[in-house]
Amino acid sequence: MVTYIEAASAPYKNTGVIRLYTPEDFAAIKRACQVTARCLDELANRVKPGVTTDEIDRFVFEFGMDNNALPATLNYRGYTKSSCTSINHVVCHGIPNEKPLREGDVVNIDVTYIVDGWHGDSSRMYPVGEIKRAAERLLEVTYECLMRGIAAVKPGARTGAIGEAIQTFAEAERCSVVRDFCGHGVGRLFHDAPNILHYGRANEGPELREGMIFTIEPMINLGRPHVKVLADGWTAVTRDRSLSAQYEHTVGVTADGCEIFTLSPAGLDRPGLPT
Ligand code: MF3
Ligand code: CO
Ligand code: CO
Repeated sequence: MVTYIEAASAPYKNTGVIRLYTPEDFAAIKRACQVTARCLDELANRVKPGVTTDEIDRFVFEFGMDNNALPATLNYRGYTKSSCTSINHVVCHGIPNEKPLREGDVVNIDVTYIVDGWHGDSSRMYPVGEIKRAAERLLEVTYECLMRGIAAVKPGARTGAIGEAIQTFAEAERCSVVRDFCGHGVGRLFHDAPNILHYGRANEGPELREGMIFTIEPMINLGRPHVKVLADGWTAVTRDRSLSAQYEHTVGVTADGCEIFTLSPAGLDRPGLPT
């Protein structure tokens, strides 16, 4: 059975209950989300051939320090960086390193800042220089998957409606949906109930209610959906080494749909792609 609780009266851990937030909470998490969005905006013209993911990560850390925002991934379950940088066949949780980005790469940069105790979680794909048409198509399909998932959010629908919308579109485009990672409730906790699957059927999962806050973050592959995690314990890659992409927004359920808290103030929600 699913239970829902006023966010303020629930303990500070993921117990499986779904928190319902107030309009004041919405305003507070939106402040965190907008710092994240502005950081991702700043990265748009910093990502280019020759730049290392460590340099990107350092920018994310410094931007946080300048904006009273703590990178949530720092020391999270043993992770030691301020961002995740997932290149080409890396599905998610790529660890920034000293290797330069190369022309034709596509990199997901995933940033979560904590501002006044609230988590703002978002990621975007960044083309590095000129990319192949197949890569550009995957980015377009994946962004469209995220937006179709978001369009399915309204009170009374189930979380499965999000998954169905994403899976239906991805597979019609001959792409596949990664099953091993999902979106998540977010607020004062980084990863909270409910899980938001990016596949499934509209009649599955808990009912969406006004006041819920969660991420939608589909990972879409050009090849098969299967992933493996490398020996570093974090880096998830496609088993067939096919290209993978991801975009992520944090959203809050409103009376008639949802509000996207992590929208780019600069219109750079899909950097490098035609608007
Ligand atoms: N930001 C990721 C997400 O979307 C989580 C990264 S956790 C880390 O949920 F430890 F890998 F950084
Ligand atoms: Co997330
Ligand atoms: Co994220």
